[in-house]
Amino acid sequence: MLSESDNDLLTRTGSETPMGQLFRRFWLPAMLSSELPKPDGPPVAPRLLGERLVAFRATSGHVGILEARCPHRHANLFWGRNEEEGIRCVYHGWKFAADGRCVDQPGEPENSRFKDSVRAKAYDTHEAGGLIWIYMGPEELKPEFPSFEWTLLPDDHFLATKRFQACNYLQNLEGEIDTAHVNFLHRNLGSEEDEFVPKEILPPRFDEAGLLPPPFLARKQFDLAETDFGLVAMARSEFPDGEYYWRMTPFLVPSFTLIPSGYDAFNTWTAIVPVDDTYSVGFTVTWHHARPLNEAERLTVTSGAGVHALVDPETFIPIANMSNNYLIDRELQATSSFTGIYGIRGEDLPVQEDQDGPIARRHEEHLGVTDRGIIGMRRLLLTLVKDLQRGIEPPHASRPKAYRARSVVVTAPKDVSPVDLFVAGQPETFVASSISQSY
Ligand code: FES
Ligand SMILES: [Fe+2]
Repeated sequence: MLSESDNDLLTRTGSETPMGQLFRRFWLPAMLSSELPKPDGPPVAPRLLGERLVAFRATSGHVGILEARCPHRHANLFWGRNEEEGIRCVYHGWKFAADGRCVDQPGEPENSRFKDSVRAKAYDTHEAGGLIWIYMGPEELKPEFPSFEWTLLPDDHFLATKRFQACNYLQNLEGEIDTAHVNFLHRNLGSEEDEFVPKEILPPRFDEAGLLPPPFLARKQFDLAETDFGLVAMARSEFPDGEYYWRMTPFLVPSFTLIPSGYDAFNTWTAIVPVDDTYSVGFTVTWHHARPLNEAERLTVTSGAGVHALVDPETFIPIANMSNNYLIDRELQATSSFTGIYGIRGEDLPVQEDQDGPIARRHEEHLGVTDRGIIGMRRLLLTLVKDLQRGIEPPHASRPKAYRARSVVVTAPKDVSPVDLFVAGQPETFVASSISQSY
């Protein structure tokens, strides 16, 4: 449970709000690179943190993102023409470069210097890993771009997708770190033996041996560790032979998570960014650190069966959404699927978008032991927000190499420390100065 005022503090993200300021201290994904496929092509109109923006790929290939309203008389630059290193407002023809400079005012006298005093608000952008990133904070605090692992890999090693989600960003973020729900929401109905065991997370030693999977304990234990990028939620189940099965989900400040998928498998990163306080945009990237994604992995991404949503390719709105009851199939729900809804992300949407509606009333909830990851994450974000209100900058923004982290799925004897297991599962180039089991 969270006080009403703390809930407000975490869920309001406009430019004047403390959480809005915290978001603006980090590089955030703004859109897919593929939305701006070619120089001088049509602009797009992203909306982020309550701000209306226009994005365009200039002649040089560089992406500019400007405040959408034209400085002249506030027509939306989205209707503009993307031409020769700048976007030209169609109302009176003023033209702006990617850095916001006004470079042409065709109606003004020829020798006028007026344009030199006009500037569109422009944001820094960076393109990496299939995404266009934006930094919306104070220029003097702009952090180095975090070295997320897939952004350093060849293009065929990763796939990135985008979806809109009709709720506050925190509902999605909490769902990502909420390992306990995997055993229920994403469960397939099966025999007694594999009850509560989603098939995709079975350890291969049981598959290879041709054995039936063991009945995991549905009641997991949860640990939490604090580290340079944020937190790691560590959930463990116990095998009958006494070993522990660990699923470790990193939460990277401010709103990124690494969802474990399986043994020696690809990694998945998810980000949620507020569009405004009741609508969000989610990005999910799947990658393999050592090889191109194979056909099966690509299919998991494109079919919508996994954590990548099936969306309308023009609007990025999920095909199954609130307006069509998420295409729930009650017959399927009675026979083979816990929810009757298609896809893992598809199952997440109704429960996240419909928690009191778009902004959950957290002061009325009842949290149990399985919610430790969520409690820890809220506590960390509240600390960072309140620190920032007192002028203390979030230290995570200046630790780019810690953001190279991976999720970890591993089986180990009981006496092996989960912190050691997490560190052993990281890339060699991962740098974190501290990690401690904290809760
Ligand atoms: S409103 Fe844009 S040029 Fe006049
Ligand atoms: Fe989920």
